[in-house]
Amino acid sequence: MIRQIRERDLQRVSALIQNTLLVSNLADYDLEIIGNLTNSFSPQQLRVLARRRKIFIYEDQGAVFGTIGLEDGRVYNFFVSPDKQGSGVGSKLLDFVENQARIEGRRTITVDSSLTAVSFYRKKGYRRVGEQVNKSFGRTVTMEKRL
Ligand SMILES: CC(C)(COP(=O)(O)OP(=O)(O)OC[C@H]1O[C@@H](n2cnc3c(N)ncnc32)[C@H](O)[C@@H]1OP(=O)(O)O)[C@@H](O)C(=O)NCCC(=O)NCCS
Repeated sequence: MIRQIRERDLQRVSALIQNTLLVSNLADYDLEIIGNLTNSFSPQQLRVLARRRKIFIYEDQGAVFGTIGLEDGRVYNFFVSPDKQGSGVGSKLLDFVENQARIEGRRTITVDSSLTAVSFYRKKGYRRVGEQVNKSFGRTVTMEKRL
């Protein structure tokens, strides 16, 4: 059910991310930032990102419900389709990359969390270690978990 992204997935994963940004993140970020984030996850950008980071998708009966990335012990591009949120997909994806990080020999895993997801990560055992403000991508909270 969780597998690495392939070329033919790029379009629909990009669409899933765009939809999730608009439905789930728009309450915490202004439209300009949502637009910048959307552009940074275009199919072309995802193709470039997938060359340097492991990008996984959660697939069920041919439909993609979520995606997550792992690069140098950090979590990236973590999105679950709004209509599937709250049903455990995000937990499964996060457990999966935490295990990948353990296999890589990492002692900690880090994420620059969206404001939207801070309480989700807290539930998952992450603690706040800092905060960042980026002109194009807005405010994020750096969170870390010992593996
Ligand atoms: C964060 C996200 C990936 C979690 O995925 P999910 O599939 O909803 O997660 P789960 O169903 O495994 O939820 C696990 C628990 O966290 C809770 N939870 C999920 N999203 C939450 C949120 N935004 N805030 C608070 N709690 C949240 C669930 O209710 C559940 O609680 P429970 O264990 O007490 O039942 C998803 O909500 C999402 O895509 N959010 C918008 C995009 C985003 O901000 N991504 C993070 C980028 S760093």
